[in-house]
Amino acid sequence: AAKWVRMVTAQTPTNIAVIKYWGKRDETLILPINDSISVTLDPHHLCTTTTVAVSPSFDQDRMWLNGKEISLSGGRYQNCLREIRACASDVEDEEKGIKIAKKDWGSLHILIASYNNFPTAAGLASSAAGFACLVFALAKLMNLSEDHGKLSAIARQGSGSACRSLYGGFVKWNMGKNEDGTDSRAIQIVDEKHWDDLVIFIAVVSSRQKETSSTIGMHNSVETSMLLKYRAQEVVPKRILQMEEAIKNRDFPTLAHLTCADSNQFHAVCLDTYPPIFYMNDTSHRIISIVEKWNRTEGTPQVAYTFDAGPNAVLIARNRNAATLLLQRLLFYFPPGDGVDLNSFLIGDKSILE
Ligand code: PMV
Repeated sequence: AAKWVRMVTAQTPTNIAVIKYWGKRDETLILPINDSISVTLDPHHLCTTTTVAVSPSFDQDRMWLNGKEISLSGGRYQNCLREIRACASDVEDEEKGIKIAKKDWGSLHILIASYNNFPTAAGLASSAAGFACLVFALAKLMNLSEDHGKLSAIARQGSGSACRSLYGGFVKWNMGKNEDGTDSRAIQIVDEKHWDDLVIFIAVVSSRQKETSSTIGMHNSVETSMLLKYRAQEVVPKRILQMEEAIKNRDFPTLAHLTCADSNQFHAVCLDTYPPIFYMNDTSHRIISIVEKWNRTEGTPQVAYTFDAGPNAVLIARNRNAATLLLQRLLFYFPPGDGVDLNSFLIGDKSILE
């Protein structure tokens, strides 16, 4: 048989939830118990770069993450690969002598090389960018004709938050109603140009691996937290509507209020879980106090904070001016070398291809 290799590289940014996803109603299909909303960062800093390759000479599917081979045998990878292969189309590249028929994809093997330019599993949503990028790159490799919505539903089965990284700007993950998960996918609320004076900072408080994975944490919260039940049924549906309005109207005080309140409730759920989960540390709490105090003195919020499954702070400044003042304050409280690393980002566009 002719020896050829077909290769595609994609780059996908991570996303930060302003209304959190926490808790699954179906752990295999990864179906959440509430809608969530996130903002996608610009793809140049905090992103995953993934190259996928196919060739008749490859004899098994293999993957390397940050240069180290990892197993693809887990259900999440298998589900993504199976779903993507099922939607694959014919590929023809005369110049390279490549001709792949739709039916061949079942027997062809794939190599995957993925790099994160930020710490893996430190609560910086590395899995979000990772699975979104994998699905996006494979979709291009296999010439999928499906829209982003279908890709979002496939990425969701790798990691829930990944379904939101297929779009730029502000994104909403609809929990969906169907048992098979076909309607549990993300949609774009507004693109990255709609509210481009926001500046996002990530204060890396610790790049250590988190102690409780989001998978185990969510499982335990669903099993034991009454607060989570109340949150999913009574609190989040209202916040989703208010947050969508705030985003469309570029209403920063409402965005800030809801973002901080939702982060705090998520971490309260963690504490309400048995065994209790502590993602934030003393530095995280100090950052919250600094921001709360500043916002109170100003009379109107200048900065919002949110924390995921780790101690690192994500801070959203209302404009460039607030961003400068925030940076000054943070550098005053946490001088360089004090263990807190600051990085800033703008709101980003969707996945990009090379
Ligand atoms: O997609 P996962 O399993 O990494 O879960 C992400 C959970 C949070 O980051 C804490 C919240 C969110 O909506 O991204």
